[in-house]
Amino acid sequence: MGKWKSWSLGGSGRSRAAAVAVGLLMTVGGTLVSMPAEAQITNTKHNLGTTPGGTGVNKFSGTAEICVFCHTPHGADTSAAVPLWNRTLPAPASFTTYDSLGTSTLDGKVAPVGSVSIACLSCHDGVTSMSAVINAPGSGTTGDAAWQAGTWTGANQVAGKIAPGLITNIGTDLKNDHPIGIQYGGGGLKVSAPSGATTDPDFKSATSQVIGSNRVWWVDTEAAPNGTRQKTDMVLYTRAAGAGSGYTGQTEAEPFVECASCHDPHTANATFLRISNAGSAVCLACHVK
Ligand code: HEC
Ligand code: HEC
Ligand code: HEC
Ligand code: HEC
Repeated sequence: MGKWKSWSLGGSGRSRAAAVAVGLLMTVGGTLVSMPAEAQITNTKHNLGTTPGGTGVNKFSGTAEICVFCHTPHGADTSAAVPLWNRTLPAPASFTTYDSLGTSTLDGKVAPVGSVSIACLSCHDGVTSMSAVINAPGSGTTGDAAWQAGTWTGANQVAGKIAPGLITNIGTDLKNDHPIGIQYGGGGLKVSAPSGATTDPDFKSATSQVIGSNRVWWVDTEAAPNGTRQKTDMVLYTRAAGAGSGYTGQTEAEPFVECASCHDPHTANATFLRISNAGSAVCLACHVK
């Protein structure tokens, strides 16, 4: 993982080889930031429009934009803490969560499906067409003529929804998926000093820092933890205490594991993982096993 070290959270997270080839680096506020000449997401299954490079079979003919299937600059959904989200989010209650499987070993608290996970599930539950966005390209919300005439093609979708039966169709029953909306550290995490230490020996310590006015959390993945949050760390997500978060059992901004703890939806890494899972490095980043 050493090759990732120089990338800050603000960077694109591209491989160093690609960055050297591009050769454009600049410093913003003392932080090294990469200047992508070619965005990574272009070359992934999350490039759903007509821009060449998308590696998936599911394609929408109505736009050459990439971000619009997930983000909009204006008029985004604000029902959960997700960035400028361009899709109506499913109801948390439409999901069955992992804890209802009833394994005797689970001890973390479970929050209703929300945070970044519900953003992923707004496509990966297979319920809603991926082109059913809030604000389509062009003036107004319904989209320009090309968007309105757009059609879906590809074997892994039905009417623009991720097709039933595929492993990528996570569905609404999450009992067979790694827990999400789950408190990190089996409930044994110390929020106050020494911050991030776990009292549960089955988990690595997390790190936290106040950035702006928010406390943010992550688990360092470097062999020698560098105490800096990077896209290649396992990012943990907080729920605001009280109303709106769906989780009221906390008094401080505790960390939870969500889909994007393990996945970065923009990376060109295999299966959008934040780091390679060779040697089960993803699993061993958090679990002491
Ligand atoms: C398939 C859905 C999807 C597409 C397409 C997508 N994003 Fe995202 N994006 C997300 C999700 C989900 C998050 C929240 C992830 C997180 O918390 O790390 C996010 C977070 C972000 C963030 C804030 C966190 C960060 O990683 O910096 C930025 C900025 C961003 N996206 C920009 C873009 C841009 C620009 C594009 C188009 C080139 C794009 N995204 C395309 C799903 C998507
Ligand atoms: C970002 C941190 C993180 C990563 C990465 C991670 N896990 Fe977990 N995992 C957790 C947490 C937190 C729980 C909930 C544990 C609890 O509360 O008892 C959990 C729960 C589990 C459980 C269910 C435990 C039970 O008692 O029912 C299994 C099995 C598991 N993880 C396996 C894996 C595997 C395999 C991987 C790699 C593919 C992985 N985990 C990656 C944090 C992580
Ligand atoms: C706009 C719809 C949309 C959103 C939102 C979305 N995805 Fe996807 N994702 C897709 C499609 C389409 C595929 C390809 C499915 C297929 O061909 O089976 C895909 C594939 C994947 C894959 C499999 C990649 C591979 O190489 O096989 C992963 C992992 C994934 N998405 C994770 C996520 C995560 C995590 C999020 C949220 C952070 C997310 N996705 C949000 C549409 C979306
Ligand atoms: C604890 C880590 C972790 C969490 C949390 C997690 N995933 Fe994954 N996910 C993985 C790993 C590791 C793989 C690769 C599995 C493999 O190679 O078979 C994966 C694979 C996938 C795939 C591709 C499956 C395939 O075989 O093509 C999709 C789609 C996906 N995840 C979506 C999600 C969504 C959506 C969420 C949240 C609801 C989520 N993941 C939460 C670790 C995680």
